[in-house]
Amino acid sequence: MFKALALTIFLTCSARNETDQAMLDQASALVDKYCPQYEMPEIDYDQARKNLELSAGEDNIVYNALLQTAAAVQDGEMQDLVTALQESVRPVFAVRKATPLFMAFLLWIVWHFACWFICCPGCMRCCCCCCQRKWKFGRSVAFQLLLWVSFLFLAGLVIALSTLSTEEHQEIEMGIQGTGCFSARLVHDAVAGNPSMGFVGLLPAWNMLDALSQSLEPGSAFLEDVRGLLSATDELERAVNIVGDMLATLQSLLNDSQNQRPAGYLHNCAACEPLSTALAEVIRLFDEGVALALQQVRSEVNSQLDGDTLANLRRTVQQTKEPLETMKEQMLQQVGYFVSEADDGFQTATTSLVGESSVVYPSLLAVVLASCGVAILGILALLAYSLCHRGGEEPDPCCVCTCSASAMCTTYIFAGIMFFIGGILLLVTMVGGGVCLAMVDFDEQSGQTLLQSLGVPASDNVNMALRMADRCMSLKSEGNTTRNVADILEFPATSPSYPGEMSTARELLADLVASKIDETFLVLEEAMASQPLRLADNPILAQIRGYLGSVNFKAMYWPNPAEIQAHSTYKAMPPPYYVVSVLCQDLQLPDQLPSVLANAYVPGLNSMVVDGISTGSGPRMPGIFPAQDMTWNCPIRLEGDCADSNLPLRESCEASKAFLLERKLPLITLPIFRCRYIQLPGAPPGTKCNIENMYKENGTWINSCVHPNRTVTFFEQDCDISEFEENIQSFEMWLYKIFQYLDDTVVELLNQVATDLKAIVYGHLVDPVFSLLDGFDCSFMESFWKGLTDSLCFRSVSSFQVISSLYVWVASLSLPMVAVLYVAWRVSRDTTDAFADSSQTVVTRALVLKNELKRRATRRAAEGQNAASSSWAEAPAPAPAVAAVGPAEGLAPGAPVSPAQTVEARSAFSL
Ligand SMILES: *[C@@H]1O[C@H](CO)[C@@H](O)[C@H](O)[C@H]1NC(C)=O
Ligand SMILES: *[C@@H]1O[C@H](CO)[C@@H](O)[C@H](O)[C@H]1NC(C)=O
Ligand SMILES: *[C@@H]1O[C@H](CO)[C@@H](O)[C@H](O)[C@H]1NC(C)=O
Ligand SMILES: *[C@@H]1O[C@H](CO)[C@@H](O)[C@H](O)[C@H]1NC(C)=O
Ligand SMILES: *[C@@H]1O[C@H](CO)[C@@H](O)[C@H](O)[C@H]1NC(C)=O
Repeated sequence: MFKALALTIFLTCSARNETDQAMLDQASALVDKYCPQYEMPEIDYDQARKNLELSAGEDNIVYNALLQTAAAVQDGEMQDLVTALQESVRPVFAVRKATPLFMAFLLWIVWHFACWFICCPGCMRCCCCCCQRKWKFGRSVAFQLLLWVSFLFLAGLVIALSTLSTEEHQEIEMGIQGTGCFSARLVHDAVAGNPSMGFVGLLPAWNMLDALSQSLEPGSAFLEDVRGLLSATDELERAVNIVGDMLATLQSLLNDSQNQRPAGYLHNCAACEPLSTALAEVIRLFDEGVALALQQVRSEVNSQLDGDTLANLRRTVQQTKEPLETMKEQMLQQVGYFVSEADDGFQTATTSLVGESSVVYPSLLAVVLASCGVAILGILALLAYSLCHRGGEEPDPCCVCTCSASAMCTTYIFAGIMFFIGGILLLVTMVGGGVCLAMVDFDEQSGQTLLQSLGVPASDNVNMALRMADRCMSLKSEGNTTRNVADILEFPATSPSYPGEMSTARELLADLVASKIDETFLVLEEAMASQPLRLADNPILAQIRGYLGSVNFKAMYWPNPAEIQAHSTYKAMPPPYYVVSVLCQDLQLPDQLPSVLANAYVPGLNSMVVDGISTGSGPRMPGIFPAQDMTWNCPIRLEGDCADSNLPLRESCEASKAFLLERKLPLITLPIFRCRYIQLPGAPPGTKCNIENMYKENGTWINSCVHPNRTVTFFEQDCDISEFEENIQSFEMWLYKIFQYLDDTVVELLNQVATDLKAIVYGHLVDPVFSLLDGFDCSFMESFWKGLTDSLCFRSVSSFQVISSLYVWVASLSLPMVAVLYVAWRVSRDTTDAFADSSQTVVTRALVLKNELKRRATRRAAEGQNAASSSWAEAPAPAPAVAAVGPAEGLAPGAPVSPAQTVEARSAFSL
């Protein structure tokens, strides 16, 4: 509930920036426009990958060569791309890539030397007079059948292949559409978020962080509220401090070595340890109780939202905002191209490739039409041949030769153009395939290599970006690595104990802050669920209070047998005296004491000196001076003489007397114990504060012995055993008082901490941080990358590769078609030429020309002799004119010179 509340607060409070909003709207519109409503057909990844590898070389040769060159240039070495390519490219690969363009070039060259022979019959005849033959087989059915079958077969293949290529237009368009779709989605998801992928969106995230950092500014409403609640509940701190310290001080009294084993007096405190054990129970009760949990919540919240810690937290939030801002900018910059509606954007650039105005399909269709046209021309030519070829018996009608020549030329040009287009496409897809393979196989390692070879200096930011790209986008990264940006972004640790260490955003925000606060609240909830609110009347406390009130410490110091045995004098003391306490009378211990002590019978000093001690089953041990004259004033004075006794008895008497005088009586009278008292606030050190003076009025506790800084202090002083006993016993009342105080405080302030403080802190800090961190899953980037590579590479580039191969095949198959048509043309041409007059050959014409020139020269000489008689000289003039026209006419095929003219020319020659 808090989470929802917090999110609502954040999202409504932070208005979106208009620029971003515009970009978002564009992205949404594009998602609608590009992303198809239907399922895209499945991609055959194996086949598509094979296509890419085919275009780029199996190990991405061109890309590797580029990297090598760049790296070499980086190192200052001289290595050009060609050398690198030569080293890495296998000849077969190079031949496959270069052949189509080479063929196109070759055909172009050959055209200049050969094809005009074809189109210019005269020239052909000039060169190939030897070939002028009247081919007999031209009419034979087998030959014609061979022509027809081979031509139809080839034409069919060409048409089929070019038709096959039109199939790819869908994949290309889908690929480009998909590229637009996934880019638009990326922008949209990145900026606005994608809840189903666990990404909250850079903009909302930034806004949340902004709100967070604002609420962490000094003087913010959030901090003021927290401060207000903390100070309203500071009575808790007083109560917890006084109780905790009081328990600790009692513990330390009981554990004090001076109290447990007064140095040099060979006595042990019998009650200290059992009491200490019982006290541990109370301490546990307190430690696990609601009161301490409440105070820990307060103090955790206080320490997280105070001073340096708050400044660190604020800095972390600010630091996190920066990369988010950069990421957003970068995202819009890098992918904005795909989304932008401007002229240089992806949309405009691809209008010719996708959508209604797409030229992809029309262009592919145009190729199909062209191939059909070529085939039809060829068929017409063959038809003309079949119908009109005379089999060498007489010259063919000119249409046979003309038709096959023009069909052959067209096919030749078609083949050349297809080689050219196919070759260009091959090169383009080679580069595209290389880029695509690099994209598909992208990971941190390859990214580093790429950046290194491009000379981008490695910096923390670049490395972070690479790591992010690797984790978020790479299609190769492990399935189980985290895809949460909060675990990837790293900042210098704020903790001064680890200078130079880097911490992830999650560690800085959650582990150090939110989780800690969260944990204390969890502890509190657990305590509230399982522990009693009030402790003052708890049986465990009642028990220890019973122990404390009924303990008589003088009866609790017993001789230490081991130390006595080791002592040179005292070891002669009879063991029954070992159980004598330092109390004058015997004492039956009360049954309220811990079980080891309860109801024990402890002999006193009187028994030791005078009355004797019962030893249970054995004989009664008499006192040291049972019958003699002596002075015994317990515990001040003992005077008596052991002289009367026999030796062993006397020795033990002396030892016992010495032990009593030297080790027992001083314990009672000397201040060899340690007492602890609570210091009265504001009074000179050493002034006791009497907790019994604490009282409750109108629901408020007065005079709690707590300093204004909400702590209590204790002072220690030497004391004798009576004061020590009193000191310990007074804890019975003290504990009761302060636990009542604690209970009242807890009951009064519980809700303010457990509910009000929690609502504020969770609403403004803990939940936003957690939902922010949970909302940073960047898997959506992987789906973008996958979509992009699928569309751009596995669909578009792969399809272009298919088309380029098909076109190269079409071109290759067109060449044999040219050959078939050439055979037909050749047969027809040779036959025709063979029938034609020899004057049609260049040799004949050259002779004619030579004689004509001669004749003119002669005539000029004659004119010089008789200039007056010019009437007959005009007559032969038309003949040379015709002869001169002859070669010029030869340029135009199908315009043979008439035999009449030839005869005239000959007669002119014979003149
Ligand atoms: C929106 O943010 C861009 C940078 O992201 C900033 O240049 C522009 O001034 C902001 N506009 C508004 C209205 O805040
Ligand atoms: C008692 O004191 C000893 C040392 O004087 C210390 O090691 C021990 O932890 C103390 N016990 C408690 C319960 O405070
Ligand atoms: C996670 O990936 C690592 C390899 O990077 C592997 O050693 C580990 O076993 C994987 N853990 C799981 C739960 O798959
Ligand atoms: C307690 O309340 C009574 C009456 O309501 C008032 O007279 C007295 O002054 C109050 N005491 C304190 C310490 O506020
Ligand atoms: C609280 O005040 C007392 C007396 O002024 C001082 O002795 C003590 O050290 C203070 N405690 C803290 C934690 O500041």
